[in-house]
Amino acid sequence: MIQNSFVNDLIVNTNNVFNFASGTDIDTSCVLVIFGGTGDLTHRKLMPALYNLQCTQKLPGHFAVVAIGRKNKSNEDYRYEVYDSIKHFARFDMKEKTWHELRQKIFYQQFDFNDDSGYIRLAGFLQKLDEKYQTRGNRIFYLAVAPEYFGVIVEKLQAHGMAHNGASWQRVMIEKPFGRVWPQRGI
Ligand SMILES: NC(=O)c1ccc[n+]([C@@H]2O[C@H](COP(=O)([O-])OP(=O)(O)OC[C@H]3O[C@@H](n4cnc5c(N)ncnc54)[C@H](OP(=O)(O)O)[C@@H]3O)[C@@H](O)[C@H]2O)c1
Repeated sequence: MIQNSFVNDLIVNTNNVFNFASGTDIDTSCVLVIFGGTGDLTHRKLMPALYNLQCTQKLPGHFAVVAIGRKNKSNEDYRYEVYDSIKHFARFDMKEKTWHELRQKIFYQQFDFNDDSGYIRLAGFLQKLDEKYQTRGNRIFYLAVAPEYFGVIVEKLQAHGMAHNGASWQRVMIEKPFGRVWPQRGI
C-alpha cells in the first residue's frame, strides 16, 4: 500500500502541489533524485522533511536520495552539510541513531544540468542504487531549481532513458514558481 505521508510530508514542507500517488496502490520504494541538491530549498525544507519522516518511520522501506549540484564535493562533505541543515531546520531534535539511518542513504552527484554526460553517469549510478536498496527503478525527480531548468532536465531525463514508466514508475515534482513572469503586471 502507498504510504501517502511520505509524499505528503514532502509536499507540506515545500508547499508543493503535486501529489503523484494519491489514492493508488503504487509501491513507494524509490530513489528520490533532487536536482538543486545544494540549494536553499533542499537544505532548509527537503532534507529536514526527510529527517522528520525518518524520525516517524514514514520513509519507504527501500529508499535512497541522490542530490545533484554543480559544486564539487564528496558524499561525506555533502552529508556533513545536510547534518547541519537538519540540526537547524528539522521539526525533531537531532538523534544520532536516526541520522545514521538516514545518512547512509544520501548521495551526492556533481554535474551541470546541461551536460549529457552527467545524465549518463546518473543513470548508471541509479541502477547501482536499485541493486543495493531494492528501489526497483522507481524514481521521484524533484526539481528544486529555477524554472528555466525545468524543460532541459525533463528532456534529458527522457533522452537518457530515465523516464519510461514500464514495470517501474518515474515522477517529476516541480517547485513553484512556474509559468511566465510579467514584471509589467507586478507578477
Ligand atoms: N528556497 C525556498 O525556500 C523556496 C521556496 C519555494 C520555492 N522555491 C523555488 O525552488 C527553486 C530553487 O530555489 P532555491 O532557493 O533552492 O535556489 P538556490 O539556492 O539558488 O539553489 C539552486 C540550485 O540549483 C543548482 N543549479 C543551478 N544551476 C545549475 C546548473 N546549471 N547545473 C547544476 N546545478 C545547478 C545549484 O547548484 P550549485 O549551487 O551547486 O551550482 C543549487 O543546488 C526555485 O525555483 C525557487 O523559486 C524555493
